[in-house]
Amino acid sequence: MEILSFRLFPIVLLLLIFSHKYAIADKKHQQTKGTYIIHMDKSNMPASFDDHLNWYDSSLKSVSGAAEMLYTYKYVVDGFSTRLTAQEAELLEKQPGILSVIPEVRYELHTTRTPEFLGLGKRDALFPTSIKLSEVIVGVVDTGVWPELKSFDDTGLGPIPSGWKGLCETGKNFNSSSCNRKLIGARFFSKGYEAAFGPIDEKTESKSPRDDDGHGTHTSTTAAGSAVPGASLFGYASGTARGMATQARVATYKVCWLGGCFSSDIAAAVDKAIEDGVNILSLSIGGGLSDYYRDIVAIGAFKATALGILVSCSAGNGGPSPESLTNVAPWITTVGAGTLDRDFPDYVSLGNGKKYTGVSLYKGKPLSDSLVPIVYARNVSDSSSGNLCTTGSLIPTKVSGKIVICDRGGNPRVEKGIVVKEAGGIGMILANSEYYGEELVADSHALPAAAVGQKSGDAIKNYVSSNPNPVATIAVGGTQLGVQPSPVVAAFSSRGPNPVTPKLLKPDIVAPGVNILAGWTGAVGPTGLLTDTRHVPFNIISGTSMSCPHVSGLAALLKAAHSGWSPATIKSALMTTAYRTYKSGEIIQDVATGQPATPFDYGAGHVDPVAALDPGLVYDATVEDYLGFLCALNYSSFQIKGTTSSDFTCDSRKNYRVEDFNYPSFAVPLETASGKKGGSGASATVKYTRTLTNVGTPATYKVSLSSQTPAVKILVQPETLSFSKLNEKKSYTVTFASSSMPSGTTSFAHLEWSDGKRIVGSPIAFSWI
Ligand SMILES: *[C@@H]1O[C@H](CO)[C@@H](O)[C@H](O)[C@H]1NC(C)=O
Ligand SMILES: *[C@@H]1O[C@H](CO)[C@@H](O)[C@H](O)[C@H]1NC(C)=O
Ligand SMILES: *[C@@H]1O[C@H](CO)[C@@H](O)[C@H](O)[C@H]1NC(C)=O
Repeated sequence: MEILSFRLFPIVLLLLIFSHKYAIADKKHQQTKGTYIIHMDKSNMPASFDDHLNWYDSSLKSVSGAAEMLYTYKYVVDGFSTRLTAQEAELLEKQPGILSVIPEVRYELHTTRTPEFLGLGKRDALFPTSIKLSEVIVGVVDTGVWPELKSFDDTGLGPIPSGWKGLCETGKNFNSSSCNRKLIGARFFSKGYEAAFGPIDEKTESKSPRDDDGHGTHTSTTAAGSAVPGASLFGYASGTARGMATQARVATYKVCWLGGCFSSDIAAAVDKAIEDGVNILSLSIGGGLSDYYRDIVAIGAFKATALGILVSCSAGNGGPSPESLTNVAPWITTVGAGTLDRDFPDYVSLGNGKKYTGVSLYKGKPLSDSLVPIVYARNVSDSSSGNLCTTGSLIPTKVSGKIVICDRGGNPRVEKGIVVKEAGGIGMILANSEYYGEELVADSHALPAAAVGQKSGDAIKNYVSSNPNPVATIAVGGTQLGVQPSPVVAAFSSRGPNPVTPKLLKPDIVAPGVNILAGWTGAVGPTGLLTDTRHVPFNIISGTSMSCPHVSGLAALLKAAHSGWSPATIKSALMTTAYRTYKSGEIIQDVATGQPATPFDYGAGHVDPVAALDPGLVYDATVEDYLGFLCALNYSSFQIKGTTSSDFTCDSRKNYRVEDFNYPSFAVPLETASGKKGGSGASATVKYTRTLTNVGTPATYKVSLSSQTPAVKILVQPETLSFSKLNEKKSYTVTFASSSMPSGTTSFAHLEWSDGKRIVGSPIAFSWI
């Protein structure tokens, strides 16, 4: 969670106020109330009610006379949200006609160069015309928008698509002229937030779609911002900034406030976005991870998908720890993060003549060439977390006039620079721990600074500890293009296996998410810290929050090119055409380990939009397939209704299996034979079935396999599939016969169908449990 952690600063402050307020409330009422989302079984509404709202109200009043509904929902669930005590919630859940009572979950927020890096710029001719693209609407659920940016210029865009039902809601610093033909909708949802925190203080944030944070402006301009020539942050990353789908329309749904994002507000936003008529939904937020029937993002995304809306979500910033994913439902496109071929290098020189390369976006007076004393923060602090340069932890007399080495982790990276500066330091080296490996994230620090990888950091610390008078300086670099290898998987990008459904591989794909330039709010400086008074129209930040809107925008391009494609088809096209090797043939690296990455890191691979336009074959999935998937998880009819709002009973004669769910990738958990340690012995055989749909020209596809492990024999039947018509379907089975391996072993393979022109690739991940 470190990547966007400058945001934690205001959150921590608000949390203190929050608990204080609750302490008072507790004394008054004895019992704390929380927000709950009530999912009503609308198809079983008692006949005595002719209006569902009366029914909702009467159910609510039966447990709590005074409770009011915060929101009523129509699409995400049939139901409402309200404030209840835990006791009232329990009572309500037991009543007839109630599917579930889900407690509020708090969520957190998890480019000039990217279009060229993704092969968009020079191959524009392949992409849909602007007229088709301008029919596509990308809804972004986030912190709102800064509408005055050039990225929202609507020059050249025709009338708003005729089916659009959205609104430009007005409020503080936001009126109807804030929207135009580019930003066609803007709404805000604060009832859940205000129920928890009390009324929004309009002195510090706008109760309107206005973005006081920057995150939502960044994500929406990444997805579909208009092209702006001459963009940069302090001269870094200069060039034309543009979203992935420059002519698509943007609708913003503000749900995240300075104190966080709440699920009752998120549900209301997704509900409205569906009603308004968006085609793509982009959610760069993550929070609770639970079974799908209690996960409001999964529930909302199901409804959206069923109505033809592709939902793209960030995978989370919990990497490189395994099983750190969020947003893992099979109908969601789950996006991890990789780097670009662009860097912002600067150079550390030590008194012993050695030089190390770091990164920074510092803009200001550079250090002189002459060497100055350098100290390690741990040794100039009385605090146990002094090595992290936490607020007030450095002793000014020991820091003044020196360069300070701070360790990465704990507090926000940009805050460390401010802590050093306030203690009188004149430069900072931000050193990675083993956890972050060699991953370098550039920030616009308040003083000359260099973020260095673990190896360089250790070498610099060695020099400092072994020399009686260590000295150093930091020289400013600039923007470097063509950095290799690229992409590499970001250390922070959340990793599989999938903690909810191990037989479903997640993440689905990776896209650029490190050091991304896109639009920014005018309300705070580029670091997001209250002390940063600089104003910038563009900012460079990192996170799976940044990779998600790349995929949202690319999905808009595919939707424009192929208006009939279902969300599952679009996702399949993106996945089966993703690449997982460099031109040299070597597998994409994981920057956290310096080793080749695996499908648990990158899913199907790195997105390749040009190839995705013509995938040849796709793994489609219908609502019935998703229902069958839930049957395979042994969900009861009640739980299925809680997830999908549909009345569906699994057919007791059918053998539903997750193995047969038509997904573009394969996750194969294998049993470890008890008592056997590795190698030979018990073998197990599992069979997976898939169905391919032809979305290209008639062709014959042949299968090929590559595998890292002799421990699993893989058999595909048939080995050839011929398609003579558009939308023709053909099935195949894959049989995995495995020997026992020690528990915890993982290995990988890759399956490809090719007609000689197109490659339809799927990753296979084995894990012995
Ligand atoms: C609101 O509308 C007026 C014009 O009617 C305009 O001048 C003003 O800048 C608008 N924007 C905001 C954010 O108030
Ligand atoms: C920090 O102080 C300890 C104890 O005096 C010393 O052993 C170590 O070398 C110092 N480290 C650095 C990097 O200066
Ligand atoms: C569902 O139940 C069946 C039969 O009891 C069992 O074999 C299977 O493993 C269960 N599936 C899951 C995903 O729990």
